[in-house]
Amino acid sequence: MLRKKIAVIAGDGIGPEVIAQGLRLLRAVPSLELCADEFPWGCEYYLRTGKMMPDDGIATLSGYDAIFLGAVGAPGVPDHISLWDLLLKIRKSFDQYINLRPVRLLRGAPCPLKNARREDIDMLFIRENSEGEYAGAGEHLFPGRPDEVVLQTGVFSRFGTERVIRYAFETARRLGKSLTSISKGNALNYSMVFWDEVFREIAREYPDVETHSLLVDAASMLMVLHPERFGVVVCSNLFGDILTDLGAAISGGMGLAAGANLNPEGRFPSMFEPIHGSAPDIAGRGIANPLATFWSVSQMLDSFGLFDDAAKVLAAIEDVLTDGRVRTPDLGGTGSTAEVGDAVLRAYTARL
Ligand code: NAD
Ligand code: IPM
Ligand code: MN
Repeated sequence: MLRKKIAVIAGDGIGPEVIAQGLRLLRAVPSLELCADEFPWGCEYYLRTGKMMPDDGIATLSGYDAIFLGAVGAPGVPDHISLWDLLLKIRKSFDQYINLRPVRLLRGAPCPLKNARREDIDMLFIRENSEGEYAGAGEHLFPGRPDEVVLQTGVFSRFGTERVIRYAFETARRLGKSLTSISKGNALNYSMVFWDEVFREIAREYPDVETHSLLVDAASMLMVLHPERFGVVVCSNLFGDILTDLGAAISGGMGLAAGANLNPEGRFPSMFEPIHGSAPDIAGRGIANPLATFWSVSQMLDSFGLFDDAAKVLAAIEDVLTDGRVRTPDLGGTGSTAEVGDAVLRAYTARL
């Protein structure tokens, strides 16, 4: 029996609705003795206390094996405050520099691309998750004046760029897949020229890995027209953010896409979350799709070394999708979040 202590931050909007289902599933894993502490941090907490989390929030979280997060963001609180003071603060404080986002068409998942076969859509995005366009460096000068100027500086350190690209090469080698680097060196003449250089340098250490280098505009076109060209993909923080929503769109929608924020060395806890937001347009109605959250549970189990259970969770999601009777409205059904949760739990238990 493996004992793990996780911190749960359900957050805002549909966050608590989908996290409740994810927790049910985690508690049903026979080989896992789970201790889950829930923290009421998020936008409501902010409106009450003026903070997204307490001052010692990061210190508190550092004592956990993993963090399970729903979603952050609510209409009454500026997004740059709510996200920077909670989600991005955790990613950065815990040096979760790898954001692992599978873009895979699961068995039974709907796909809007004509003629795409299931095996054509099987990518693994490795998004740089600690710096780049999300460094938070910048300046706002002379607000309100005609000469007002705003700077938002991308920060690409050699250390940060090398480590994510090296991680991507290791992953591609392990999986026996090609590695595509996505950048924009023709316009971003400092940051992305550097990114491409580092990619070429590190590629020399991995002659066995097939590599491709694409510009981000062309890459987004190819993801739609030729998704089969992608295996493992490595890209900067912002490009990874944008392209993985596109990836979600071609592989079942936002209700299905998951992401792991990893500190690979394990010096700090990693964080697991659906990649969608708080979806204020459907929050509180009990119709949010919990499948992305289940997939993030599978990623968490993987990180715990419970590979068999992780695979069974993914297979259970596929069973429910293939069966097709219980689906939330985003997938064309009339089912509720809890009904999909019941179905996945049943399918998982049946596989034990
Ligand atoms: P969103 O992902 O919340 O929603 C986009 C669309 O997808 C909406 O129509 C929504 O209803 C739908 N959708 C998302 N998840 C769904 C699910 N599980 N089931 C069914 N439909 C789902 O993105 P947004 O509307 O741009 O952002 C809303 C808020 O969430 C903002 O405050 C934003 O900053 C925040 N946000 C947070 C995170 C996070 O916490 N990781 C991620 C993205 C956005
Ligand atoms: C995501 C989200 C976040 C990001 C936002 C909410 C800061 O969109 O996890 O994809 O851009 O990383
Ligand atoms: Mn995003």
